[in-house]
Amino acid sequence: MSGADTVLYEKQSRLAILTFNRPEALNALNTEVNLKLTELLGAAEADDEIRVVILKGSGDKAFVAGADIKEMMSMSAMEAREHALRAKMVTDRIWNLKKPVIAAIQGFCLGGGLEYALACDLRIAADNARFGLPEINLGILPGGSGTQRLPRLIGMTRAKELCFTGAMIDARQALDLGLVNAVHPASALMDETTALAGKIATKSPHAISLIKSAMNKGTEMDLESAALFEIDCFGLCFSTEEQKQGMKAFVSKKK
Ligand code: CAA
Repeated sequence: MSGADTVLYEKQSRLAILTFNRPEALNALNTEVNLKLTELLGAAEADDEIRVVILKGSGDKAFVAGADIKEMMSMSAMEAREHALRAKMVTDRIWNLKKPVIAAIQGFCLGGGLEYALACDLRIAADNARFGLPEINLGILPGGSGTQRLPRLIGMTRAKELCFTGAMIDARQALDLGLVNAVHPASALMDETTALAGKIATKSPHAISLIKSAMNKGTEMDLESAALFEIDCFGLCFSTEEQKQGMKAFVSKKK
């Protein structure tokens, strides 16, 4: 498989569907995947027709089973550091993308795969999804911000248990922990995810982008600064056509 094929890009109306495409390796993340994914996220962001991005895995066994262990195993400390920095570039790209990113997760979602899903705005799981940070079983730790984003999302207590044991949890447990937004039968995963994405795609793209920014950046600030940042985002909405149309429609009782 050439590097160009390791992540696929499909445009479906206002949605960009990016597919990790190394099913023979359970879609493990190697350097080619990271570079290609970064490029395709940029393409989705630059395309004004695209409102929402969906990440998924090819095949039915895995979203992504982690970073490619075969590529990593002989790395020097400096090479491993570079590798983790490339993964950070991907999670930063997802986190800061001006459009919502949804992970549609079937099968294994492990290690770096879970870390990429954690950087997404929403996570929709198939009932066969399995989640974990098994790096400890390899004598390493999650290097794609997993030790940071997981506790922020589900709390330190459960996050430490998952990092220390490397245990896998199923889709129901992930839902109970607030790790995923919803669980659907595997056969319905993409229909349900595209329906949700389609609903978001009908909203003001500017307001959605500002909400993402206010929530992602604001929760890293003290409350006073965050509230002021939110107020600036709120003010900016009044420069958009959607605000004018939306409020006019409400007042004139139109849709
Ligand atoms: N890297 C490279 N290859 C992988 C892989 C990975 N992370 N996960 C699976 N594969 C490959 C296997 O080597 C196998 O290839 P071959 O047929 O050539 O042997 C193929 O995918 C199918 O895998 P299995 O035969 O192992 O499938 P299984 O159903 O028996 O087991 C599994 C599935 C439990 C997910 C098992 O594959 C597994 O444990 N994978 C590794 C999971 C892991 O440790 N992920 C964390 C990686 S480290 C990381 O992500 C670091 C970071 O934070 C940046």
